[in-house]
This record gives sequence, structure tokens and C-alpha cells, in this order.
Amino acid sequence: MCMDTPNVARMYDYYLGGTEATPVDQAAAEQVLAAVPQVRIAVQENRGFLERVVTRLAAAGIRQFLDIGSGLPTQRNVHEIAPPGARVVYVDYDPYVVDRSQALLADVDGATCLLGDVREMADILDRCGLDFSRPVAVLMLAVLNFVGDEDHPAGLLTLLRKRLAEGSHLAVSHGAREDANPVEEIETGYRRTSGQAVLRTREEVLDLLAGWQVQEPGVVYGAQWPHADAEPGTRLTFAVLCRV
Ligand SMILES: C[S@@+](CC[C@H](N)C(=O)[O-])C[C@H]1O[C@@H](n2cnc3c(N)ncnc32)[C@H](O)[C@@H]1O
Repeated sequence: MCMDTPNVARMYDYYLGGTEATPVDQAAAEQVLAAVPQVRIAVQENRGFLERVVTRLAAAGIRQFLDIGSGLPTQRNVHEIAPPGARVVYVDYDPYVVDRSQALLADVDGATCLLGDVREMADILDRCGLDFSRPVAVLMLAVLNFVGDEDHPAGLLTLLRKRLAEGSHLAVSHGAREDANPVEEIETGYRRTSGQAVLRTREEVLDLLAGWQVQEPGVVYGAQWPHADAEPGTRLTFAVLCRV
């Protein structure tokens, strides 16, 4: 584990008020926060989306959750929202995150964490142990904004969609590239960290989801999902739910 490079998972935990960040992570996170103080609120909006969308999917009867780019499960997380008996598989490409997650989940029935890279989607699906003949809810929150176009994120999502049974869902949140947003400040703030941020426009996020059935209200700001007429909040993230 490299402790000299600011780590995006621990920076994220720091924004959320967690205690995992090293001084190096804290300094990088503070640099982002100095340039874009609303990030602290945006991460809470993203947590709110996670809570609402998992609650919705659980109410729809889904009992299998695959959270890719899951981060540190120190705050209220999928296995704490999903109903008893649900299977929750967290996946992250950061060995530090996976080790910490496995320790934190050691006594939790039905929840595990695997090392896996979203850019190796087939490998994740082969190893996650979920039953793909039944509906699965896949969560990719604030992770595709670390996957550049050169890694063909739309193709990864198509591969995923083709493996999923009817009734499966995909929830995505993504850093928003908009004229009014401090895009340059955010992308610069992440340049020396373990993950390069790539913000995308609403149209670019929709393009990633070609072939998916985008559910109402479509791609909205994280604070607005699922009520498009709610207050838009920071406007720093987009959120969307799709179905197979
Ligand atoms: C900003 S955090 C988001 C955590 C969580 N999904 C949430 O929204 O609260 C991004 C996470 O994605 C992970 N990540 C980044 N690139 C990844 C990749 N290619 N494959 C898997 N995980 C990745 C990072 O290690 C980090 O834990």
C-alpha cells in the first residue's frame, strides 16, 4: 500500500467525516475543499442517493447487491440498508479498501468485499458469486468518474447489462461537468492522487447508458433523485437509475 500518494477512497472518507485518512490524504482533501468547499455537501448528497436507491430496490424485491467502487464501508452503507437475508458484494480495486472492508465486515452475515477493477468487468462478474439468473442491483456510485474514455466505460456497462437477468438494475452517480461547476479545480485536485477524476456532462452520462432502460426521472442532480422538482443542491453530481 502506498501511503505517499493521496488515496481517493480515504479522501472520500475524510469528506464524509470518517477517520481513515492519513495526513497525506487529509492535505489533498483539504486542497480540494479549499478550491471547492461544496464537495463536503456533494458527498452527503451522494450518500443520500445511495440510501434512497437501495431502499427503492429492496422494496422492489431485489436481494442481491453488487457495489463496484464501494470505498470504505465506515459510514451508513448498502448492507445496513438492504433487508436481512440480502447478499451484498462490495468490490474495489484498492487493496487497502478491501482489507479494511473485510475486517469491518467480518461479523456481518451476507456481506463480503472483493478486490476487483471495474475495467475488468467480466472478471468481477465471474468471481462475485451472485446468482445472475435472478435480479441483481449493481451500484456504481462516484466510480465511473475515475474511468477515462480510453477504458471504454460504455462498453463495460454493455458487457454488464448482457450478463444481468430481466428486473436487474444499475444505479450510477457521476461527477457533473457543467459550465457553472469548478471542473478544472476538481480535476486538478485529483491529478496527484490514486485516481484521476474525469467529470462528464449529463449527455455523456446518458451516452454511457446506451441500451439500458433509464428510469424516471432520468439523469438528475444527486440531491434531486428521485424527485426532479426537489432542490438541486450543489449540482456537483448526477444520479440515475436504469433497468434491464
Ligand atoms: C469516490 S469513492 C466512492 C465510494 C462509494 N461508491 C460512494 O459513492 O460512497 C470511489 C471509489 O472507487 C474506487 N475505484 C476507483 N477506480 C476504480 C476501478 N477502476 N475499479 C474499482 N474501484 C475503483 C476507489 O478506490 C474508491 O474507493
